Amino acid sequence: MVEPPAPRRGLGAGGPGPGDLGPGDLGPGGFDPADFLALLGAPGTGRALALDQVDPARSSPVPTGLAELDRVLGGGLVPGSVTLLGGEPGVGKSTLLLQVLSSMAGPDGPVLLVSAEESAQQVRRRAERLGPLPAGLMILDSSDLSALPTALRDTGPALVVVDSIQAVADPGSPGSPGSLGQVRACTDVVVHLAKLHHVPFVLVGHVTKEGTLAGPRTLEHLVDTVLAVEGDRHHALRTVRATKHRFGPTGELGLFEMNETGLAAVTDPYQLLLGDRRPGAPGSAVLPAMQGQRALLVEVQALTAKTAAESPSRRSAQGVDGGRLALLLAVLEQRAGVAMVRTDVFASAVGGIRVLEPAADLALGLALASAFFGRPLPPDLVVFGEVGLGGEIRQVPHAPRRLAEAARVGFRHALVPESCPHGPPGMEIVHVPTLARAVGLAMGAASSP
Ligand code: TYD
Ligand code: MG
Repeated sequence: MVEPPAPRRGLGAGGPGPGDLGPGDLGPGGFDPADFLALLGAPGTGRALALDQVDPARSSPVPTGLAELDRVLGGGLVPGSVTLLGGEPGVGKSTLLLQVLSSMAGPDGPVLLVSAEESAQQVRRRAERLGPLPAGLMILDSSDLSALPTALRDTGPALVVVDSIQAVADPGSPGSPGSLGQVRACTDVVVHLAKLHHVPFVLVGHVTKEGTLAGPRTLEHLVDTVLAVEGDRHHALRTVRATKHRFGPTGELGLFEMNETGLAAVTDPYQLLLGDRRPGAPGSAVLPAMQGQRALLVEVQALTAKTAAESPSRRSAQGVDGGRLALLLAVLEQRAGVAMVRTDVFASAVGGIRVLEPAADLALGLALASAFFGRPLPPDLVVFGEVGLGGEIRQVPHAPRRLAEAARVGFRHALVPESCPHGPPGMEIVHVPTLARAVGLAMGAASSP
């Protein structure tokens, strides 16, 4: 469905909104809107400028004070930019942004939270749990976006958070909050206000289980930066990464742990990811997974059990791709002679991390075989590779980065695709052409310790 572009419009009676001014119009006081915008310090005055006259410091990132987040952002939030923070409900978006607001309130002036989902009282209670209430944290307890220009003028904030973009509404646009038209219109307004006031805005966007921003994917094109918060709500680990970033690279991964006092930076992810691992237990394989551009070792587990009489066989996938699990079971049966007939199969990635990339196939396949035969894989082995329908092991991206991380953490052996480069010093690489060969090698290696 093609939506007509949201009409540019004013923001109620609150004063000059960006939509009130157009090229050639005369703004308030009878002067050119370009001068008006220049006076307000907005970029993009419509005049050509020598490049060496451009002030680079004007768009330098301002640190949020949360080091893990600043690393992902390449320094912090850029004034005048709009960042969309997406994630499933309950993952910790409001918590993270309340911590950012608390951290940035003060030195550079007040900060403003537009809270459309939670009341001011609820936010206060949550803020008090996170730490002492900071001075200068202003809250606009409203879902009506037309109140924002006045609040901006009254408070002059150094940061504005809108929680969430799906819960606010622009009264001049049709549709209910959260509808495609409203979400786009509101984002449009926010983008203009951010530029006009030269203030960074962060918008919360709820993401559906399928991983798309509920309703408006198009929103991603309207903003400068898109951050994704991921993690299983039943586990502590949360990852934050940029999937779009106009001001820097998108490769960094921020790691947080959700505890009673909010999100804390994680310095040793392996305490969470591999801390409870039982080396030598069947049904476990370690995968150097890519999260963004960073390799992270994740334990993939499988359990097989005889299906109860009369019941259909169960297939359960947690943190791994259910479709690829089905594919691997078929390939194991047809290409490797491992038929799990009348067998319940459970597979998961440990620690609340999701490994949906095809590179996880080999780890999943070997964990399944290991569980089925009751034979453990060697404890210092990592495995990665995509499994094709012919049972062949196919190459995957970032092999050197995966191997380097595995070596750094102390793994000494790797089963990898044939085209994979040689590993770092101290790591023995075994290239495997097929899943059948990998199963034979891994099970054989395990049976002769
Ligand atoms: P929240 O930030 O409300 O998620 P979102 O805004 O993405 O929907 O976080 C929700 C969960 O985090 C909630 O289940 C409670 C938990 N939580 C903690 O464990 N510790 C805390 O200090 C806070 C504030 C929340
Ligand atoms: Mg929330």
